Order: sequence, then C-alpha cells, then structure tokens
Amino acid sequence: MNNPPAGHLADPIAIFDSGVGGLSVLRHIRALLPGENLLYLADQANVPYGPRPAGEVRQFTAAITRFLLAQQAKLIVVACNTATAAALTYLRDTFPHTSFVGMEPAVKPGAQQTQTGKVGVLATAGTFESQRYASLMARYAQHVTLYEDPCVGLVELIEAGELASPATAALLQRCLAPMLQAGVDTIVLGCTHYPFVLPLLTTLTAPGRVGIIDPAPAVARQVQRLLLAQQVATPQTAPGHLHAFTSADPGRLTHQIQTLLGETIPVTPLSWQAGELRPR
Ligand code: DGL
Repeated sequence: MNNPPAGHLADPIAIFDSGVGGLSVLRHIRALLPGENLLYLADQANVPYGPRPAGEVRQFTAAITRFLLAQQAKLIVVACNTATAAALTYLRDTFPHTSFVGMEPAVKPGAQQTQTGKVGVLATAGTFESQRYASLMARYAQHVTLYEDPCVGLVELIEAGELASPATAALLQRCLAPMLQAGVDTIVLGCTHYPFVLPLLTTLTAPGRVGIIDPAPAVARQVQRLLLAQQVATPQTAPGHLHAFTSADPGRLTHQIQTLLGETIPVTPLSWQAGELRPR
C-alpha cells in the first residue's frame, strides 16, 4: 500500500480473545507500540472456546471480525490459540483484504531450546485437536517428545481472577506432575490465558530448572513488522487510546482489566443478536 491516507495511521489495532487471555498479548503490543490506538474484544458470553467445535468458533470469529472492521481496525490480532487453530485460515480466506496475526503454541522454539528432548505443552483441547497443531508437530517436533495437557478448568479459574488460589495451584500441579516426572526442561504456553499464572507456574516447576515460553513478545514483533511493511504504523508519540468491548458484563471486564493490567479503561457492552455482535 503506498501513501495511505493519514487517517489510517491512527486507526486501531484490534485484539480479540474468548476472554481476558488476549490481554497477555495486548500488554506486549502496547509496550512495543505505545503510540498505537488499541481495541480489545473479549467474547465472554462464549468463554471458554477450548471445548467448542471448530465450526462454532469459526462463526464467532467471523462475526467478531465484521464488528472490528466496522470499528476501522487496521489489523486484527487473533489473541487466542484456540481461535487461531479453528479459524485463522478461514478468516484469511473470508476477509482477504484484512491483515490478521494469529497465535500458535511455540513448539518450534520449545524444540530448539530443550536439552532433555522433552517439552511440555499447555493448551486447550481445541488447539490440540486441530490440523494446525498437527502440522506444527510434524514440522518442528519430530526429534523431541511432547507432553501435552489441556489443563481443563484453568481458563475458567483465570477468568474468575483465581491466579494463585489453592484450587488453581492444585489443578496446575495435576497438569504438571506427569511432564515434570518425565523430565521436561521446557514448557510452552499454548493458551493466552496461561501467562497470567506464570508466577504460580514458576514456583511449581522449580525456578531456573524449567524454561517457560510465552509467544506473546514474538507476536507483538510480528504486528510491528506488518504495520511497517504496510506503512500503517502511527507516527504518533503520545500514548495511544485503549478501549475494550465484552459480550458479557462490562463491569466485570473493567474489574478484570484493573486486576490484570493495573489500569481502568472504558468497556462497552455488546450482545449477540442473530449471529452478529451489536452494541447493547
Ligand atoms: N485464550 C484462549 C487460547 O489462547 C482460549 C481459552 C478458551 O476460551 O478456551 O486458547
């Protein structure tokens, strides 16, 4: 794109997830690109996506994309591994003029970093069952052994703000025990909710002995590369605006953002009507 109209540069980057997980990606995008305006959309009426059929997740993400494009999003970050696994190819085919950045479990860096040849992967059932994950394994994990766990219930605990509660610790301990016993020295976080329990994960995996990989910083760099390549990065140096949307309770998301990011931002409620997201 040559010389885009100046208005496009200030258009927002939109970031979405089933819930608060994508905020773990947003914080890295914000740190790297502080002048950009950002929109965050949490489809909390439908969280968790992990156990849902891929077709249903595709429908949600297409409607979310239509809504975000109506807000003038210049780039859309699918800040959800489950949604990326189910829908990224479909979204790129359906919206060929839109730039998307997706998430995937960092199997490649995990396989490169491990010394024991054993890598743990924490992701949702939807991600593990996907074609995309099978392809990642085939391309990058032939020479290592992957130990996978879907951590059933962890997304719900993180949505409930239980980042260090006894229930969360017990669940994580159950998920980690088999992989730690097997001798993994690297664990890949394949769900954007999970970086919010990193302090607990670090404690439970014996600090310094197991490397934990969050792909969010690499995703933020990819967003930056795309904006520069398409000449739509904002030249603005003042901090960009941040606005959020949720398909559930706006008061709850306001509180969650305060807890997870330490700031108060405006949240607009949306509702699902006949398969589309509309302002309430
Ligand atoms: N945060 C999401 C992911 O990265 C999904 C959580 C869910 O809704 O199950 O997979």
